[in-house]
Amino acid sequence: MSLEDDFTDVIAKVMRRLGTSVTALSEVSGILVGEIEVFLGGGMNESVARAISPALGLDANALIALPGYLPKPVEIPGVRRIELPFGKWIVNAWEVDHDNIRLLFDAGLGERDILGKVSTQGLDALLITHAHPDHIGGVAALAAAGIKVISETKALATGRFSFGSLELEAVDLSGHCTPATGYFINGLSRQIFVAGDAIFAGSMGACKTREAYELAGSNLRTAFAKAEPACIILPGHGPATTIAEELASNPFLPCFGWSS
Ligand SMILES: [Fe+2]
Repeated sequence: MSLEDDFTDVIAKVMRRLGTSVTALSEVSGILVGEIEVFLGGGMNESVARAISPALGLDANALIALPGYLPKPVEIPGVRRIELPFGKWIVNAWEVDHDNIRLLFDAGLGERDILGKVSTQGLDALLITHAHPDHIGGVAALAAAGIKVISETKALATGRFSFGSLELEAVDLSGHCTPATGYFINGLSRQIFVAGDAIFAGSMGACKTREAYELAGSNLRTAFAKAEPACIILPGHGPATTIAEELASNPFLPCFGWSS
């Protein structure tokens, strides 16, 4: 198990989003272009990281620690990560099975992939976080099998709802994709937050514009304010994590309005 993004992915995402060049980074940080290029090629260097992080709005301590970061494995009875193919990558779907209620969050890229890993028998609903192709590929097939589909737009309009003893609250996570929905789930042994691509362990989903990036940060900050520190985040890519671990280890902390 590894993180979805390494530190070079994190920096590349921010540079694209802010339209920052290596030359511009060199000018504001005083670090030579060649040194920055070596760093961006994968050579972690603490002094370069500290010099360029402010210009990128990244948390330097978290960025430096990222190569050694992996959230502690979390196991919750009834919660299953379903790893589905997405080109050379993996996309997650999550199944929550509790008290005779079975919910599926997101549906992968290809309908055969999700149908091969999830039984539609007794499935109460499919809930979508956002409409990127790697999350909605199985929607039509699951709907055709009679499964109730709660789309990200419907969830935003609905707010709080329940399935048996599970209480769900949909929150706006627009930014990486607009609209996008996160789902808090209460009623299991720990609170869960199904976050789609709004946040990953040690990173977050790419945003197309600076405005979208700022929106993503402010929506995450609002969502985090509702969460218990031990709340488990189930992201669209990479391993599960917790709010507390991300508030200590995610280099995008300044974007979320926090600092380490
Ligand atoms: Fe996405």
